[in-house]
Order: sequence, then structure tokens, then C-alpha cells
Amino acid sequence: MPKPITLIVACTENRVIGRDRQLPFDIPEDKVWFHAKTAGATVVLGRICFETWPQVLADGRQPVVITRDRSLASDRVRVAVNVTEALAIAQSLPGEIMVCGGQRIYEETLPLADRLLLTLVLTELPGDTFFPEWRQMPWRETWKREGRDANYRYTFSILERIR
Ligand SMILES: NC(=O)c1ccc[n+]([C@@H]2O[C@H](COP(=O)([O-])OP(=O)(O)OC[C@H]3O[C@@H](n4cnc5c(N)ncnc54)[C@H](OP(=O)(O)O)[C@@H]3O)[C@@H](O)[C@H]2O)c1
Repeated sequence: MPKPITLIVACTENRVIGRDRQLPFDIPEDKVWFHAKTAGATVVLGRICFETWPQVLADGRQPVVITRDRSLASDRVRVAVNVTEALAIAQSLPGEIMVCGGQRIYEETLPLADRLLLTLVLTELPGDTFFPEWRQMPWRETWKREGRDANYRYTFSILERIR
């Protein structure tokens, strides 16, 4: 049995996930959630996400980086040329498979996703990278928590794919 594939993302209501290689919002509670949920996991991610995530190798994470740049490979970092190869490598490793973006990787893996860990930031913001539309797909929400800080209201949800 292949292991389930989980996508983890924080996006706004207009599906923005990034701007200028950074997150378009700074939500400390979401950072804590993201780090806790990806600890110990095999994290599948694009080269920019890998290069801009300083703690990617902490807390037992095993990155599988999608890139043409084979020189990023090391004893702790696997490299794949596309999503298919990355998921095959991830299936061979111990730990939960968590897809962490960016845009094209989310677009290609959303149809395969068994679970979505979604932080929905309840606002619209400008941006240059987007999460694909997930709202018309069949999901069962199994858990939800609301949060807010001085700048944003947001919800954390766990959505299980209905097949
Ligand atoms: N809010 C969130 O939850 C969240 C999550 C993730 C990212 N982000 C944001 O999104 C932005 C980064 O994402 P991004 O989409 O610009 O970049 P990315 O996916 O992290 O990296 C892009 C690079 O990864 C490789 N790549 C990506 N998809 C590929 C595919 N399907 N097949 C082959 N190679 C592929 C290519 O690498 P090479 O050029 O090396 O070949 C490409 O240039 C940042 O602003 C970041 O903060 C936000």
C-alpha cells in the first residue's frame, strides 16, 4: 500500500501563497503549526522553498527537492527532477509524506492528495504564487480550529479526500 500524500499550505481566500519568494503574511501561530506538522516527515518541495526554509533539515525532516540542480543532493537531501520521481523517492523513505509547495508542485500533486492541512487566511492579498482551487473537490473536514492575531483571522483545517 502506498503511503498517503498530504499537502500542507497556508493561503488567502484569493489563494495567494507567496510574494517575492516570501510568505505574503507573517502569522507566528501558523509557523508553529507548519513546523510541528512537518517535523519527522519526508517533505517534498521545490528548489525555492528549499533554499528559503532555514529549518528544513531540523526536527528530523527529510527533504526531497524538485530541481534540475543535482548539486543540491547530499547525504541528507534527496533530489528529483519532477513530481513523479520525488513521490517515488518519498514512498521509499520512512515517515509521512508532506508536500510543501510551491505553486507548480501543489498544482501537480493536488489531484493525488489524500489529505490537506490548510491554513486559510481570511483576507485577500496581492501575490505572485498561488495554491490551486481546492474548494470544488470532494473533501471531508475532520478537524478545524480558528485563530487570530493583531493582523489576521485564520482557520486551521484538516481535510480528508473523499474518493
Ligand atoms: N503559503 C504557503 O504555504 C507556501 C508554501 C510553499 C511556498 N510558498 C511561497 O511560494 C513561493 C515559492 O514557490 P515557487 O512556486 O515560486 O517555487 P518552488 O516550487 O519552491 O521552486 C521552483 C523551482 O523548483 C523546481 N520545480 C518546481 N516545480 C517543478 C516541477 N513540477 N517539475 C520540475 N521542477 C520543478 C524548479 O527548480 P530548478 O529551477 O532548480 O530546476 C523551479 O525553478 C515563495 O513565495 C514561498 O514563500 C508558500
